[in-house]
Amino acid sequence: MATLPIYLYGNEVLKKKAENVTEITNADIKLIQNMFDTMRGYGIGLAANQVGVAKQILVIDISDNEEWKDTKPLVVINPEIIDEEGEWEFEEGCLSIPDIREKVWRPEKITLRYNDVNMKERKLEADGLLARVLQHEIDHLNGILFIDHISAAKRTLLKSKLTKVSKGEIETEYEVVAAPSKKKPKKK
Ligand code: NI
Repeated sequence: MATLPIYLYGNEVLKKKAENVTEITNADIKLIQNMFDTMRGYGIGLAANQVGVAKQILVIDISDNEEWKDTKPLVVINPEIIDEEGEWEFEEGCLSIPDIREKVWRPEKITLRYNDVNMKERKLEADGLLARVLQHEIDHLNGILFIDHISAAKRTLLKSKLTKVSKGEIETEYEVVAAPSKKKPKKK
């Protein structure tokens, strides 16, 4: 069992599309186990690039939620949303953006094509909280954050807070990796 530090907002690895996985290695299995350990108690979903690994892998465990207590932990590799339906607004947060929560509109139901941990191709229909977490994590794997879905005006209000997050000037119960500081151009 090992936990991994979470990469905070501002890190490049969170802004890029993660790479497709063609085979699952022992190292990937370990990564997946560590991802579950890392989010336990703090979050219900985690994308590999949030722990600095740019691979199309995400994990979800929503069984702490009473309504979803029978839902098994899920490992999703190379996900692709092939159908969506409806729309609902729900407040989201993110381990990479601590202390910020915002309401986000997303499709209510989705159909997903993905590979399981044995690289077997699977299809999943999800709604409610499960569909919500899946979309949030799939966004991560495409370099998109939940705050990219809110209005520009709202984002402007969050700007100073986001700068603090990127510098790691926040308190978290879990280990984090701040974004590298931007070097000022040298004066001639
Ligand atoms: Ni997130």
